[in-house]
Amino acid sequence: MIYGVGADPRQDIERILLTEEQIHRRLDELAAELTSALAWIFQPESQTKGLTFLALLNGSVVFLADLLRRIPLPVQIDCLSVASYHGTSSTGHIRFRQAELPDLKGRWVVLLDDIFDSGLTLSRVRERLLAEAQVSGVTTCVLLRKDLPRQVELEPDFAGFTIGPEFVVGYGLDYFEQYRNLPFVGVLKAEAIERGRMAQQASV
Ligand code: IMP
Ligand code: MG
Repeated sequence: MIYGVGADPRQDIERILLTEEQIHRRLDELAAELTSALAWIFQPESQTKGLTFLALLNGSVVFLADLLRRIPLPVQIDCLSVASYHGTSSTGHIRFRQAELPDLKGRWVVLLDDIFDSGLTLSRVRERLLAEAQVSGVTTCVLLRKDLPRQVELEPDFAGFTIGPEFVVGYGLDYFEQYRNLPFVGVLKAEAIERGRMAQQASV
């Protein structure tokens, strides 16, 4: 348990980076961009079987829910559970928590994640979909993109915001599974990071 009993997780936020209003305004634009970029799928000459939004769990569920309700196209939803982060840093390898990929044969997939950091997660999942799932194609979309040098070739096709390299929480993003329910994106206080680290150490 990271918070004290009854404590408001907002108290652990040093600084709000993106307000709820800013996020929602940008989602209106992003949804319009995606809708016009994907409309061709529904033309009669398209060979594609349909459109699936594939959300990477757990971080992108809030993003998925708010984005999809702004997209007036026939879509299906699927989720895939992957993990790569421990605390505030990437472990450098990604773990598929589900043995099997969802059935996406012939479909165009919009792969959604909360944040593009090292880029490993999105590029590994995309490669696996293309190699194993017989998808028609993949479009990548993230809420946040960190502005830093990366080892992967991939850049997301769509991104809500570009931010600095700092660790952020809220709007789906977590620190040891906490803070996902904050409606904004913010930076944690150093004392909250330390408290989380201590709690994690004590629980293993
Ligand atoms: P990547 O594989 O390094 O691009 O990292 C992607 C995953 O790491 C995301 O799906 C997040 O779960 C997590 N992550 C990366 N940066 C942050 C952050 O600043 N806050 C919270 N989670 C993050
Ligand atoms: Mg995470």
